[in-house]
Amino acid sequence: MTDALTLTRPDDWHLHLRDGEALAAVLPHSAAQFARAIVMPNLRPPITTAAQAQAYRDRILAARPAGSDFQPLMTLYLTDRTPPDEIKRARAAGVVALKLYPAGATTNSDDGVTDLKHCRATLDAMQREGLLLLVHGEVTDPAVDVFDREAVFIDRVLIPLRRDFPELKVVFEHVTTREGAQYVTQAGDAMTGATLTPQHLLYNRNALFTGGLQPHWYCLPVLKGEEHRQALVQAATSGHPRVFLGTDSAPHAAHLKEHAGGHAGCYTALTALELYAEAFEAAGAMDRLEGFASHHGADFYGLPRNTGTVTLRREGWTVPAAVPFGQAELKPLRAGERLAWKLS
Ligand code: NCD
Ligand code: ZN
Ligand code: ZN
Repeated sequence: MTDALTLTRPDDWHLHLRDGEALAAVLPHSAAQFARAIVMPNLRPPITTAAQAQAYRDRILAARPAGSDFQPLMTLYLTDRTPPDEIKRARAAGVVALKLYPAGATTNSDDGVTDLKHCRATLDAMQREGLLLLVHGEVTDPAVDVFDREAVFIDRVLIPLRRDFPELKVVFEHVTTREGAQYVTQAGDAMTGATLTPQHLLYNRNALFTGGLQPHWYCLPVLKGEEHRQALVQAATSGHPRVFLGTDSAPHAAHLKEHAGGHAGCYTALTALELYAEAFEAAGAMDRLEGFASHHGADFYGLPRNTGTVTLRREGWTVPAAVPFGQAELKPLRAGERLAWKLS
């Protein structure tokens, strides 16, 4: 049994930082865990232009704790009307990716894409300029069962997209199903990667209904059955070079999760590496954590790996019941519970 694990400083390849007071509240947590993060653009209004992304990056840099060298990697929110011209400006501004939210699929996705056929010229420009496409992989067709939306997305959207834009790098974000894991690890397509969240590696959908309804375990795509969780653990711990860490840490004020119509999103930035360590240890694969957390994402994005290290120690601690979040409070996943690992 190892009691300490030192790894190259990790990155978070899928993170929601929000803005204003919320940004100020959550940024120190991610900055303590990660060297860099891909910052999601689903603000209200969304970040759709290079100029907005630059201004948002400046607000993030200004919110860093003193001495932090945390680097936000910026993304734009793809819409039906994103002009192909914007892609050159985005690249020049250091934006690395665009995010596809099918309209209505998740939090702040009302301006999302109604049909990728509207985006062909923009996707062509991205392919040319080397920007990645990050996808929230769920169809929104109300006739499709909520638990099947990811698998149907593969057939209806992802496979045609791969066929039409074979040179575009695509990240299938927060994969939650066996079908998603199989698509990425076995499709044999070197241009498609995937991120995995800690909650989908640790929990199945029973967590939503055990001891009453549990809104803090509600995120999108929703937790799936145990066979799916096991397939995700297998993908994460296999050492596959295109499978990497993306917390999808998504802060929502506790009172907006604990009511009818509660918001989707799990807050994991405070405990991210500790949660992943728990999942990898349970699978007997602690030796694979560094590749997943610190190497594969950078390699896929074509960015240098970080220098420097962090150390996880076996040291029990209790996750705070809540942390301040502007005028509200934020309840981390596992609030009030013990964790076995601690990042030092
Ligand atoms: C995210 C959010 O709150 O912004 N919520 C979530 O449940 N994952 C949006 C997203 O990543 O789909
Ligand atoms: Zn999403
Ligand atoms: Zn997300």
